[in-house]
Amino acid sequence: MSRKILVTSALPYANGPIHLGHLVEYIQTDIWVRFQKLQGHECWYVCADDAHGTPIMLKAREQGITPEALIERVGREHREDFAGFGVAFDNYHTTHSEENRHYSELIYARLRDGGWIDRQTITQAYDEREGMFLPDRYIKGTCPRCGAADQYGDNCEVCGASYSPDELRDPVSVVSGERPVPRESEHFFFRLQDFEGMLREWAGGDRLQEEMANKLREWFDEGLRAWDISRDAPYFGFEIPDAPGKYFYVWLDAPIGYMASFRNLCEREGLDFDEYWAADSEAELYHFIGKDIVYFHALFWPAMLHGAGFRKPTRVNAHGFLTINGQKMSKSRGTFIMASTYLRHLNPEYLRYYFAAKLSDGVHDLDLNLEDFSQRVNSDLVGKLVNIASRCAGFINKRFDNRLGRRLESPELFRRFTARGEVIAELYERRDFARAMRETMALADEANQYIDEQKPWVMAKDPDQAEQVQAVCTTGLNLFRVLMLYLKPVLPRTAEAAEAFLNVPPLRWADVGQPLLDHPVARFRPLMTRVDPERIEAMIAESRDTMGRKTTAPAEEAVDASPAEPIAEEIGYEDFARVDLRVARIERAEHVEGADKLLRLVLDLGGEERQVFAGIKSAYAPDELQGRLTVMVANLKPRKMRFGVSEGMVLAAGPGGDELWLLAPDAGARPGMRVK
Ligand code: MSP
Ligand code: ZN
Repeated sequence: MSRKILVTSALPYANGPIHLGHLVEYIQTDIWVRFQKLQGHECWYVCADDAHGTPIMLKAREQGITPEALIERVGREHREDFAGFGVAFDNYHTTHSEENRHYSELIYARLRDGGWIDRQTITQAYDEREGMFLPDRYIKGTCPRCGAADQYGDNCEVCGASYSPDELRDPVSVVSGERPVPRESEHFFFRLQDFEGMLREWAGGDRLQEEMANKLREWFDEGLRAWDISRDAPYFGFEIPDAPGKYFYVWLDAPIGYMASFRNLCEREGLDFDEYWAADSEAELYHFIGKDIVYFHALFWPAMLHGAGFRKPTRVNAHGFLTINGQKMSKSRGTFIMASTYLRHLNPEYLRYYFAAKLSDGVHDLDLNLEDFSQRVNSDLVGKLVNIASRCAGFINKRFDNRLGRRLESPELFRRFTARGEVIAELYERRDFARAMRETMALADEANQYIDEQKPWVMAKDPDQAEQVQAVCTTGLNLFRVLMLYLKPVLPRTAEAAEAFLNVPPLRWADVGQPLLDHPVARFRPLMTRVDPERIEAMIAESRDTMGRKTTAPAEEAVDASPAEPIAEEIGYEDFARVDLRVARIERAEHVEGADKLLRLVLDLGGEERQVFAGIKSAYAPDELQGRLTVMVANLKPRKMRFGVSEGMVLAAGPGGDELWLLAPDAGARPGMRVK
């Protein structure tokens, strides 16, 4: 049965370059879409740049250009990067488009008329010099808890405290450097709480991965609250039709960008928009997103769609975050690798394969270990897959005038290969690409083993065995063809080169059962070369020195530019001695849902366990911390935070962000020892 499927990836912000972390998502989605198309389904893959909001407005200002010019340039770069990695959108649009304005206004009007929009006056920090309200991220000051200077308006990177911007000491606007003042303004709120029943039911219907469904239940239990969907001028976005000077908050019109991009595609392809978006649509709608934006996609978005009389998503698939060599991507380590940098050095299909080999349907983070990456690609793709073809092609090219034989030497082996197609298809469908790759590589092993046993290079010495040599090599190349089909969603370019060599039209899932016999092939050329370690080094070196100053978000630049801290006021030894510092072992480290900078640590103090929330997430991945020794303040008064009680704090050096180094004692120190 042919299905109608609409697929999206999250819309990348138009203020920065695509990096390898983003690519996890776009490659994952692209593989799934290519698989559906190979199955013969009608499947459309749309995306767009997320072009609105304060960061984009300010970034353009900083560069002395209009926001339109900025998003135009970044949009072009994004398209190039995606094309470079073979991410084949059917349409790539922008949220700053007429289609998006149309649907944003329409959805807003329907929600308002349905009684789901409230107005309420709130007080917010205001920059009088710039004449603008300041989002929390654009206010810096001294942490009210630990006194660290230069902290953001919502939480402290040094002690991990979270607070509201009006608690910050000596606050300044990041935009003007002036002290912000409180100011009132009327905002529009979407009554999310009215949709709880509908959302509970929707989420109960196999729409989400188990971890996400659990998360939703927690959110329901905490109680849903109305969502602030308006921002005051100046703002780069769409003005709210019945409220001059007020704009839709970027996250309101961003998901509507999925519809807008599809609408734009409909105009071009003559598709029926309603067939995919009407409330009673029978088409399937899938969103692929990162785990950081689940709230928007699993609560706000279905509620908006429902309230406005559109269909809701069939499924929302979340993935985890990418780490490189076990750590968070970092500019100083040269692992903040931009898509364009990678493309200057390495074959994109390596990365597509590596991600496929690591991606399952889970939401756990995945690591790109560059050593493992080279090994995996060299051994699986070059050593196993391509090797099958190169071992057989020479004979066919040279001895049989490029012609495959009239029979397979082993029809059973061929049949076993084609029979696995069903299992592999099921794995792709369930997004368990890692297992699909394992299954396929197990077959590649069998094919190589078959050639090893047949030894065509030995038979080739005996002229009487010529036909047998041709039949063996014909079997080998037919096995190769099946494997290439199974890998085609992951390796589209290699598959294309293989199709040219086999001299066949584009491979399709449905044709897998028919072997190629008595068929002319082209001259074989190596389909893929081994990973060159020097190129990896060059890529890291380039990522290190570009440091992306021009292309980073304003927040990151602010961190880079922070001055060395002055030495604090003098204290006596007694003051110091009051601080009880201890060696602690990090027993466990994990992400804290909803916290940008915090990791939850469970520390062993030599028998006693402590839970500490540490603002070190930008610098460390949980995996690299587990088991490590560090130094903690053991007599710090426990502090209740939004996520739980923090019972102490760990010590780290550096300005913050990804420039942070956890202190550790020399070898031999044991948990619980006092540091004096
Ligand atoms: N603009 C919003 C999405 C709006 S969707 C209506 C946004 N943009 S983003 O550029 O920050 O991220 C785009 C996607 O890339 C998100 O799904 C995000 O989770 C994903 N990733 C960004 N960095 C990532 C990693 N380091 N690892 C894996 N995915 C990451 O959010
Ligand atoms: Zn602090």
